[in-house]
Order: sequence, then structure tokens, then C-alpha cells
Amino acid sequence: MDKDFLKRVSLKSLSPSHVEGIIEIDRRILGKRRQSFWKKKVSAVESNVSPTGIVAELDNKVIGFILGEISGWEFGVPASVGWIDTIGVDPKYQKRGVAKALMGELINNFRKSGVKNIYTLVNWSDWDLLQFFRRVGFTRGDMINLELKT
Ligand SMILES: CC(C)(COP(=O)(O)OP(=O)(O)OC[C@H]1O[C@@H](n2cnc3c(N)ncnc32)[C@H](O)[C@@H]1OP(=O)(O)O)[C@@H](O)C(=O)NCCC(=O)NCCS
Repeated sequence: MDKDFLKRVSLKSLSPSHVEGIIEIDRRILGKRRQSFWKKKVSAVESNVSPTGIVAELDNKVIGFILGEISGWEFGVPASVGWIDTIGVDPKYQKRGVAKALMGELINNFRKSGVKNIYTLVNWSDWDLLQFFRRVGFTRGDMINLELKT
């Protein structure tokens, strides 16, 4: 963790003005621009009652983001469950504690809303993300992911 660097980073609640910054980080990570995908996703998260979308800014520029939500009963799990949808940090600023700071802030917000368990889904082959989630305390949960190819 780079404490001096992190002092210059501010965490803010997600707003529509952050969408372009998120699209650019996603492009740097995945190599393609997904404009309408992110516009829809950001507006869905932003309409949540609790702040479950957070961005990290350096000099007013988005360098990382985390998007989550608090579930209703859609999956037969109680409303005290928080989901982490996506996390991304600009490759230029990775490995300096930005994702950990974003995660800490989201966990605090979840706790304030009464969330007791936090879930996320990570692709088995996504080693970076798996390592990161492990480092911030996640372990394998007791739900299993089922799939039917059509
Ligand atoms: C995974 C990711 C979010 C981590 O961001 P980051 O800012 O570099 O992570 P941090 O610096 O906060 O790391 C927190 C901890 O996780 C560890 N960690 C992070 N990435 C790791 C990796 N690839 N391998 C091993 N450990 C890792 C750090 O060493 C640190 O551990 P520590 O607390 O013991 O020092 C970032 O690599 C990323 O955005 N990856 C792409 C994710 C993606 O595909 N998102 C969807 C598209 S946007």
C-alpha cells in the first residue's frame, strides 16, 4: 500500500459524471469501449437508495471504481446481502491500494445499511481478481454457480 499516494486519492459516491472515466478504465483493462453497457449499469447503481457505487479520483480524474448493490429476495437470500458487481482500477495506478480503499468504503456503506454477508462472482480463470478478493478477506461461499448452455 502506498500511503502518500492514497492521501491524494479521494473516494466519492458514483454519479453520472463519472461514467466516461469508468468507460476509459474498462477500455484500458479489456481493450474495448462499452459505452451503452456502462451508461445503463451506472444509472442502475446510481438509482439505489444506499451509496453502492464509489469512485476513486486523483486530481479530479477517475482512476478506479467499485459497483455493488443490496439484494432483495431475488435469489432467495435476505435483504441483508450485498453484492459486488464490478471493480476496476486504471492499470497505471494498480498495486497501490486503490482497490482495497474502494472495497473498504463499500463494505462500510453495506454495514451501515445492515448488510451481513457480501457475495461476488469471479471467473475461475481470473487469477488477478481471485487473488485480490482473497487478500481483502473473501473466502469461498456456500452457494454454487449453476449453468445451462442453450
Ligand atoms: C484486481 C484489481 C481491482 C486490484 O486493484 P489494485 O488497486 O491493484 O489492488 P490493491 O493495490 O488495492 O491491492 C489490495 C491487495 O490485493 C493484492 N493484489 C491485488 N492484485 C493482485 C494480483 N494480481 N495478484 C496478487 N495480489 C494482488 C495486493 O497485493 C494487496 O495486498 P496487501 O493488502 O496484502 O498488500 C485490479 O487489478 C483490476 O482492476 N483488475 C481488473 C479487474 C477487471 O477485470 N474488472 C472488470 C473490468 S473493469
